[in-house]
Amino acid sequence: MTEIPKQGPVIALDGPAGSGKSTVTKKLAERLGFVHVDTGAIYRSIAYLVSQKGIQVEGLSEGSKEVLEAIEVARVAHLEFKRNESLSPANRVFANAEDITDRIRTPEISLMASKVSAIPEVRAALLELQRRLGCEGKTILEGRDIGTVVFQDADVKIFLTADPMERARRRHTELLEQQGSGKIQDIPSLEELFAQIELRDRGDRERAAAPLKKAEDAIELDTSCLDLDEVIAKVEAVVRERLGL
Ligand code: DC
Repeated sequence: MTEIPKQGPVIALDGPAGSGKSTVTKKLAERLGFVHVDTGAIYRSIAYLVSQKGIQVEGLSEGSKEVLEAIEVARVAHLEFKRNESLSPANRVFANAEDITDRIRTPEISLMASKVSAIPEVRAALLELQRRLGCEGKTILEGRDIGTVVFQDADVKIFLTADPMERARRRHTELLEQQGSGKIQDIPSLEELFAQIELRDRGDRERAAAPLKKAEDAIELDTSCLDLDEVIAKVEAVVRERLGL
């Protein structure tokens, strides 16, 4: 991979699903004037394209035809991130020129993303895109392996954690809100979400390729007993101190 020089400070924010990463990253980016890069959306986009091709998730075993097809999808996918202030969310994701922002947030795509992201060649195919996006200026990247793989040289590394049941509760509240605003119809129960989170955690932590883990030099913050404002305040204080802002 060609080395891309950083154009500004890079903040790496990693952690499991539901640890508060997305909301914290979004808010922090706004407050500090940084660009927010959601690397989970990249894996979700590949999962969406894979499912559109009818590639079977259950068939994603090493060396299988399905895995080779998924790798090819990741290699040729053209992903773009654009802002459109008149839409919600304003950060839009395009795959091969199609706006898929809302389609990549379903529970099926979440599970599929966890599976495709365990394929080392898929990860390798998406590394350069993440580096390029992160090098464009002052950026804050959220993901699982930003501090350990994508930006080992990040200027600040934060690792957020939270108890799995608390994370399931947060996700449930989020989905209820989306259901209330008519964005989605059926939503899973709290118990189903808890099971999905445990399954995804296991997949993300136990995979051989870039597993979810705290970088040695990352600052860990358990958010189980904190509300979002408290988490944002704590992370912002660390970032400001580290970057001298
Ligand atoms: O953050 P998220 O829930 O949108 O991520 C979706 C999936 O993508 C998650 O199960 C793990 C994977 N992922 C990853 O492997 N590496 C990243 N840097 C970001 C996400």
